[in-house]
Parts: sequence; structure tokens; C-alpha cells
Amino acid sequence: MKITNICCIGAGYVGGPTMAVIAKKNPNIKVTIVDINAERIAAWNDEDVSNLPIYEPGLAEIVEETRGKNLFFTTEIDKTIKESEMIFISVNTPTKTYGKGKGMAADLKYVELCARNIAEVATTDKIVVEKSTLPVRTAQAIKSILHNTGKDVKFSILSNPEFLAEGTAVQDLLNPDRVLIGGESEEAIESLANVYASWVPQDRILRTNVWSSELSKLTANAFLAQRISSINAISELCEHTEADVNEVAKAIGMDSRIGPKFLNASIGFGGSCFQKDILNLVYIARSYNLQAVADYWEQVIILNDHQKRRFSDNLISTLYNTVSGKKIAMLGWAFKKDTNDTRESAAIYVADHLLSEQANIAVYDPKVNGEKVQADLNYLNTRSEAENKELVKSYNDPYEVTKDAHAVAIMTEWDEFKTYDWQKIYDQMKKPAFIFDGRNILDPIEMKNIGFEYSSIGK
Ligand code: UDX
Ligand code: UDX
Repeated sequence: MKITNICCIGAGYVGGPTMAVIAKKNPNIKVTIVDINAERIAAWNDEDVSNLPIYEPGLAEIVEETRGKNLFFTTEIDKTIKESEMIFISVNTPTKTYGKGKGMAADLKYVELCARNIAEVATTDKIVVEKSTLPVRTAQAIKSILHNTGKDVKFSILSNPEFLAEGTAVQDLLNPDRVLIGGESEEAIESLANVYASWVPQDRILRTNVWSSELSKLTANAFLAQRISSINAISELCEHTEADVNEVAKAIGMDSRIGPKFLNASIGFGGSCFQKDILNLVYIARSYNLQAVADYWEQVIILNDHQKRRFSDNLISTLYNTVSGKKIAMLGWAFKKDTNDTRESAAIYVADHLLSEQANIAVYDPKVNGEKVQADLNYLNTRSEAENKELVKSYNDPYEVTKDAHAVAIMTEWDEFKTYDWQKIYDQMKKPAFIFDGRNILDPIEMKNIGFEYSSIGK
């Protein structure tokens, strides 16, 4: 099938950047991103590209170049579905917060709604592409919804999981290690492969069956998260011995069988994918009665929760066992640098724990505003919105946020944190002035020379 019109349902962190790059690299294909959230669509259409709803280095430039030419953002879902030969489903699949599989299984409500929507309005043959991360065998459900419309329309379902990481999404899309396409129909697979072939070498476009493709996505994220939990586990051991986790990471990373990436000890991984995907894997394993398999992967999450908790426990015990009424300045709220995404960010859980000990939290993040910080804490439901509002303040300036603070906690590895005038920060803080570097980004010797009581992870 020759593709001239692509529709993507879901203008989020995945749909937005992915479609922008597809549009840039395929000037002859009209790419339209639809979303039920009118406000989000309006932000994507904002004349000033610095107001796009998603911050990703390099994204604004691509949107500026393609928007209005062959990249469009609209809320007209039915019309766009009708005119497209290929439809990507890129809606969110959060962990279920109710009913069976609560706290574990993926909530496929939105994916199903999309499938029903497509089934209802399609009048010509369509290729439907799962872009959202889905539990293995979801394609089966989509297929059965699409094939039972009673209409004379043919649907082919493909799984095309996204491997981009936020903060480097544009680079990851422009130069992917691999593109994975799972499907039954060779013709449909080749139609999608052709879209990518505009810029991705053929030998990096993998074709598999649907189930392998779905499972590969979960497995890739589980392996990556497992590396972080592994090094984080060793970081605790380092703190009790005289080993330094950075030295250990370097030494093991030079073993080409292990490799250097994803060995940065941290306050724990966050983001919308790792926890959700591992929970998914665990849930699937349990549903096949594979207890040992489920327990094995679940431990990656247990260790991650432990690492977040350990960080805040250590902060409290170092501050003479009480943070009540003390100003704790948090630098960073996003789950990693170069993104405004805060989903599952370790900062939320550390702040929540410190708040339960009656700390006053002061937050500064270069890309996250105070409303988002409040919303993230309110979502946990640990205390009233009024209390969160009273105890947590956001600032626009790193020197204001740290002024009169008892401690600074570094939660995100933003590059700008390294460039601050740390002497000035020290001078304005309460003494002794503590730094808890949750990302190991500052120079310990420099900090100690200024006079800080400096602690980091795994040293
Ligand atoms: C992605 C993936 O799709 C998901 O599977 C992965 O696990 C996390 O990352 P992401 O793009 O980050 O999701 O999600 P989000 O930024 O929340 O965007 C999803 C968009 O879909 C939202 O803008 C939402 O309004 C839209 N949506 C949701 C619809 O248009 N229709 C729906 O029925 C539901
Ligand atoms: C991840 C996967 O990398 C990507 O392939 C997939 O498609 C979506 O999920 P993302 O969640 O955007 O991407 O970010 P990633 O760079 O993987 O980081 C996840 C978390 O791990 C962050 O909180 C990060 O700070 C943390 N991390 C990462 C570490 O703590 N140490 C590391 O060495 C690397």
C-alpha cells in the first residue's frame, strides 16, 4: 500500500516527536497528529514554538520546519482517520489504578477506545500501528475489535514499539539503533518499513512477528532498568565499604561484554516507562503462573523503591534525625535532564517522604513549573492539597531556592547545576550547609573546600 496520509492518535511525548521526524524525512507524506485534548493541540499549533507542550532538544526546530507543510495538529479525529491509509496509536497506557491488576497491569482503555473509533469511521483499508507500549498480545484485542465491524474494510495490525528516550528523542529518532516492526502481513510491514527507509538503513529495520515485537519492547526496558537497579544495589555496598561506585562502574563498563552505558548510580530511575513496563512483565508472568520469572523482575522495582527511600532516610538522619520545619532545597524535579516530563520522577517520592517528616520543600527545575510540582504531589494523595501548597514552594532562581536552606538535594542531572556559583550558594545557606547529590554531578573536593558537608551516592 502506498502511504500518502498518516494519522497519529496521541500528541504526547512519543507521538509528537516521532511524527515530527517522520514528516521531516518524508516530505511527500501528509502527517496529521490528533488528540482529544484541545489545549494540547492548541499548544502544538502555537506560533511561538517555545510554547510547545513538550520540551525536547531539537524538536521545536523540526516542528517549525514542517508544521503547516506536511505536519498538522488537530482535534478532528474522525476526519483524519478517514483520510489516512496508516494510523498510529500513540495514546498513554498508564498502570491500572482500579479493579483487576490494579497497580500492575496496563490500562488499555484508551487503546481500545482508539480501536473502536477507527472501526467506526473507517471506510477504506487501513494499516493500524501500535506505537504505545502494550502488554504482549494486545494486538489480538485490537484485531478482534477491528475485524468485527461488519464492514467490508481490511485492517492490518503492526507493532512498532518506540525506543526513543526522552531528552534525546530527536537524536534517537534520527539515528536509531534499530526500528522494530512486528506483523503478519508482509505487505503492511513493507509499507511501514518504506516510511522509515527514507532515513534508516535497511539493515537496522527488523521485521518480526507481532508478539516478539511487543515483548521486545518490554524486555528492552526491563534490561535497562535492571542495569540501573544493579549498579544502585552496588552503590549501597560501596557506601559501607571503601569502594567508590563511579570507579566500580568504570572498571566493569570497560568489559566489552558489559559495556559502559546505563551504569550511573542515582536516586533511582523514573519516567513513564520503566516501572510500568516491568510491572507489566511481572503481571504477564504471573498470569501464566510463572512465579519465579515474576519475582525475578519484580526485584528490579523493589530495589528502585529502596534506593529512593534510602536517599531520603539518609538525608533525614544526617540532618540530626529531624527535618521538621527545615528548608530543603531540591534542585531538579524532572525524571531526568533535558525534559519537562515528571512522570514517576524520584523527586516526587523523596519530597513526599520528607514532607511526611514536616520538612519545608523548596523546588527549582529549569523546565518544570510550580503547578506541575503541586499536581504531582497531590496525585499521591498523601496529604491535603492545602498542606502541599503550604509546605512546598517553587522558585525560578537557583540562588533564591537555596537561600537559608539547611540542605540542597540534587534530584535531576541538569547541566546548569554544575555551572552555579556554589560559593555564593554556600554563603547564603544555614550552617552546617549540606549537599545531597543524588546524581553524583558535583565535584566532591571542590564542595568540601567551599565548606559544604557533601554526600553523594555510592561513595
Ligand atoms: C507514550 C506511549 O505511548 C506509552 O505507551 C508509553 O508507555 C509512555 O509513552 P506518551 O506519548 O508519553 O505515551 O503519553 P502522553 O504524553 O500522555 O500522550 C498521550 C496523548 O494521547 C495525550 O495527549 C492524550 O490526550 C492522548 N489521548 C489519550 C487521546 O488522544 N485519546 C485517548 O483516547 C487517550
Ligand atoms: C526509556 C528507554 O531508555 C527508552 O528506550 C524507552 O523507549 C522509554 O523508556 P526514558 O524513560 O525516556 O527512556 O529515559 P531513560 O534515559 O531510559 O532514563 C530512565 C531513568 O533512568 C531516568 O530517571 C534516568 O535518570 C535513570 N537512569 C538512567 C539512571 O538512574 N542511571 C543511568 O545510568 C541511566
